[in-house]
Amino acid sequence: MQSWRIDAPGQTLVLASEGRTPVAVYWGPSLPEDQDLAAICDAAKRDVTGGMIDALPQLSLCPEEGDSLQGQPGLQAYRDGAAIYPRFALVAAEEGVFTCRDDALGLTVTFSFEAQGAVIAATTKLVSDHKITLHHLAAPAMSGPQFAEEILDFSGRWIGEFQIERAPWRAGTHMREARGGRSGHETPPIAYFPETGATNTRGTVFAMHYGWSGGHVMYADEQPDGRRQIQFGHATGTRAAGHEFETGTLYLAVSETGLNGCAVAFQRHLRDALITWPHPDRPRPVHYNCWEAIYFDHDFVELAAIADRAAALGAERFVLDDGWFGKRDDDTSSLGDWDIDPRKWPDGLTPLIDHVQALGMVFGLWFEPEMVNMDSDLARTHPDWILGRADQVEGRQQRVLDLSNPEVRSYLYDKIAAVLSTHDIDYIKWDHNRLLPVADAAQGDGIYALLARLRTDFPQVEIESCASGGGRVDAGILRHTQRVWLSDSNDALERLRIQHDAALMLPASVTGSHVGPRHCHTSGRTHDIRFRAWVAAQRHMGFEMDPRDLTDDEAEVLTRVTAWWKANRDWRMDADILRLDAADPSVISEQQIASDGTQFVVFAGKAASGGQNMPRPLRLTALERNARYKVELINRDEANHLSRISIPLKEGPMVLTGQQLMQQGLILPWSFPDRMWVIEGTKI
Ligand code: DGJ
Repeated sequence: MQSWRIDAPGQTLVLASEGRTPVAVYWGPSLPEDQDLAAICDAAKRDVTGGMIDALPQLSLCPEEGDSLQGQPGLQAYRDGAAIYPRFALVAAEEGVFTCRDDALGLTVTFSFEAQGAVIAATTKLVSDHKITLHHLAAPAMSGPQFAEEILDFSGRWIGEFQIERAPWRAGTHMREARGGRSGHETPPIAYFPETGATNTRGTVFAMHYGWSGGHVMYADEQPDGRRQIQFGHATGTRAAGHEFETGTLYLAVSETGLNGCAVAFQRHLRDALITWPHPDRPRPVHYNCWEAIYFDHDFVELAAIADRAAALGAERFVLDDGWFGKRDDDTSSLGDWDIDPRKWPDGLTPLIDHVQALGMVFGLWFEPEMVNMDSDLARTHPDWILGRADQVEGRQQRVLDLSNPEVRSYLYDKIAAVLSTHDIDYIKWDHNRLLPVADAAQGDGIYALLARLRTDFPQVEIESCASGGGRVDAGILRHTQRVWLSDSNDALERLRIQHDAALMLPASVTGSHVGPRHCHTSGRTHDIRFRAWVAAQRHMGFEMDPRDLTDDEAEVLTRVTAWWKANRDWRMDADILRLDAADPSVISEQQIASDGTQFVVFAGKAASGGQNMPRPLRLTALERNARYKVELINRDEANHLSRISIPLKEGPMVLTGQQLMQQGLILPWSFPDRMWVIEGTKI
């Protein structure tokens, strides 16, 4: 038996082979450097009853039908209309790359593993001597944890993204698939596999994220013999027949500190290893987006006045959203016609850009390049560029261009490049508002190619991935983009929950969060400016309302919170976001801790009326037990008249040990729902 180990901070993967496809005999918290791998292999062996099957103790990186496998095979393909059943032999193993071959079928499969920060990045590549049709190819299949009862993954919808789902491990297959041609609101490509009893802050947890934007599938299955396996791959059957196929990158994380350990591994990996930042040394600019202020109603004088107010509040980037091109007065026309609308912009966009820049802000612009309205010059000229049948059901009155066609990519590149090369543009909001008529991986490849070309030629431009809010949030798109518009919901209550759950993957620096209008346009709720401002301040802060509508009190609060955000952004945009285990289910709370551990901020959002009259203590996490911390409730002026008792935090700063904060916890003042307490902590 040969064995190999792959290490990343906090985790070790041990692979072993007796001449066939390697098997992951151990995936878990880091093993000692001098660990005897033969002993790991021996200890992984398990007995089996009955003689019905001769089961291997673990399933291989590509489980094969023919090995008494009753679960999901790692490869399903057809040649000349007939299914093929490969039986791979290991032919090479070098530096995390394992090559296996089935000579009879003419197939070579390669599994690659690489440590990237605290995650292990894994891919599978398949090369076939003969043309085959691929139904399914798994990124390296991993064993599912045995000491676990639950699978934790996500569903979601427009204005309700990143909803945690809990499913039991049980006999058979738990499957999630995104067939809309996007990683999707409905099934973000990420799953957590907590051991029984794990919480946000405690316990052993495994997590996987599949970095592909074109639709994916996840299988978590349990065999009748008790073996568990987890596979991720492209959505089933979304690739054309061919000779070479590669999966997206599967990112693996392991934690002994609850869900947070994996969340932090993903947050750091995206922020520090994967994303290419156009201006790595520039602080993240406070954003202003005009969408909910004016929608399609563009007018220079109005927008200039809005920009004046936004800058006075503290905005540093001004974004002109949908409506500047073609004849786009509503969402029924003009997608595809990416020329500035002379009716709305007789002198072009330059006067607005000049105005914005004179106020000290940079300028950003909205595009939705992959889409077309039938009412557009592009659709009239090139109906052949549109995906799907003529009588398809449209979404938002629009259709999808065929990005696998190089002519389409050139057209879009030329249009976007023409705007970028003649205007001083700092940022693009790249939208994608409908599902594909039929999921097709070639579309995803085409989008990446277009984005890569634009990034090469305009490396100073930041790009935000928006897809009706958070419909395309994954590490594949984040290779080419730097921010995500997590949700079209600017309702602070909804946003508090959405961004809390999305922190299981996303760092603050890439997660856009805006202060919306007083009366929320997507929920009808009315929220106090304090709550709206603090929720946006948890992430990459922005405003998205008509700032001329703010009362004096609202403007004062927003200016103050924005100044606080700016004063703290240098450390906070590099901080880890740790979700706290609130004893009170009405509290959604998190602790953002600086990379050097010397300071933190706790946000404790009150999402509903509590179940009791006295707030339960809130335990912090990841502090040094014996260190002393000064903690201060920085918005104690927001305590209301029903908060009756004079608890110390209401009076001023306290000094507490790490152990005290993590065990005894903090008592916060009683609060109305839809409020946020903000506590700063400094190690002394
Ligand atoms: C959907 C986006 O999510 C919104 O923020 C906005 O940009 C609109 N599209 C514009 O049509």
